[in-house]
Amino acid sequence: MGFPARRLRRSRRLPAMRRLVAESSLGIDDLVAPLFVRESIDAPVPIASLPGVSQHTVASLVLEAKRLASLGIGALVLFGVPTCKDPVGSGASDRDGVVQIALRQLRDDLGDEMVLIADLCLDEYTDHGHCGVLNDRGEVDNDATLVRYGEVAVAQAEAGAHLVAPSGMMDGQVAAIRAALDTSGHDDVGILAYSAKYASALYGPFRDAVDVTIAGGGDRKGYQQDPRNRREALEEVRLDIAEGADLVMVKPALAYLDVIAAVRAAVDVPVAAYNVSGEYAMVVAAAERGWIDRQAVALEHLGAIKRAGADVILTYFAAEVAEVLGG
Ligand code: PBG
Repeated sequence: MGFPARRLRRSRRLPAMRRLVAESSLGIDDLVAPLFVRESIDAPVPIASLPGVSQHTVASLVLEAKRLASLGIGALVLFGVPTCKDPVGSGASDRDGVVQIALRQLRDDLGDEMVLIADLCLDEYTDHGHCGVLNDRGEVDNDATLVRYGEVAVAQAEAGAHLVAPSGMMDGQVAAIRAALDTSGHDDVGILAYSAKYASALYGPFRDAVDVTIAGGGDRKGYQQDPRNRREALEEVRLDIAEGADLVMVKPALAYLDVIAAVRAAVDVPVAAYNVSGEYAMVVAAAERGWIDRQAVALEHLGAIKRAGADVILTYFAAEVAEVLGG
C-alpha cells in the first residue's frame, strides 16, 4: 500500500507513542477546587445536588484545604454562606464575615502553600439574591454596586486572599476593584476576572450550595452574558484586561468551548474556565445510574476544556482527578 497508508494509526498504536504525540495534557497544576464555608454550623453539611461537595465549617475547610494541598492542588476558590442576609450584602465585606474568618485561618495554617482565591460577589449575602445592590426601581445599580465590590475586595485582601475573583458582571468592576486594592496597600493582590460569565441554566446546584434564591423568580440576564453571543465575550475580556485583570475567565466551560478558544486566541493573559456545578451534577447523576463512567467522563471533559485553550480549570472534580493524575 502506498503512502500515506496507516500513517495515523501508527502513531496511535502504543500508549507510549500516544503520550509522545499528545497535543495537550491535563495536569494537577491546572486545577482549582471550589470550596464552600458556612457560618454557624458545627459539622460539614453535604450539598444534595452536588454529591461529594459540602458546606464546610472553618475547621473542616482547613482540613480539606490541607488534603487538596497534599494531592498537589495549588489553588482553591472560596464561597461563603452567611447566616444573615440584607439588601446591601453587608456580610461580604464585614471583617468578621464568614469568608474573611476562613481566609485568615487558611493563611495562618497554609501560608502561601496554596493560592487562595476569594469569589467576590454579593449574591450570597443579599436578601434579594442579586449580585449587586438595587435602585428604587428594584434593578441592580451598577455604580453603587462597584462601591460595595471595592469594600469586599479590601476586606478579602486584608483577610489574606491572594486573588479576588469578581463574578458579578458589573461594568467597570475590575477597574473599581483594582483601584480599591491599590489605594489600600494591597497592590500585591491580583484579580481573576469572571470576564465572560453567561446567564446559564447550569448554576442550579451552586445556588443550592450557597442558599441563594433570586427574589420574585428573577434572573441575572440583566448583567450576565447572553448565551447566543461570542464576540461580546471578547469585548468583556479586552475591557477587563485594560482595567487590570491578571487572569480572565470563561464560565460555564463545556457549553462555551468555542468562547474559551476564541479568548485564548485573542489575548496573552492566562485564561481560566469554570466547569460549573450543573456540568458536574450531570456527570455525577448519569454515573450514579450506571449510564456513564464518572472518572472517564470527568477526564474527557476537563481534557476538552484544556484542549480548547484554558490554562486554569475550576472544577468540583479537582480532588478526584488529582488522585488519578497523581497516580
Ligand atoms: C455568583 C456565582 C455563581 C457561580 C459562581 N459565582 C452563581 C450565579 O451567578 O448565579 C456559579 C458556580 C457554579 O455553578 O458552579 N457569586
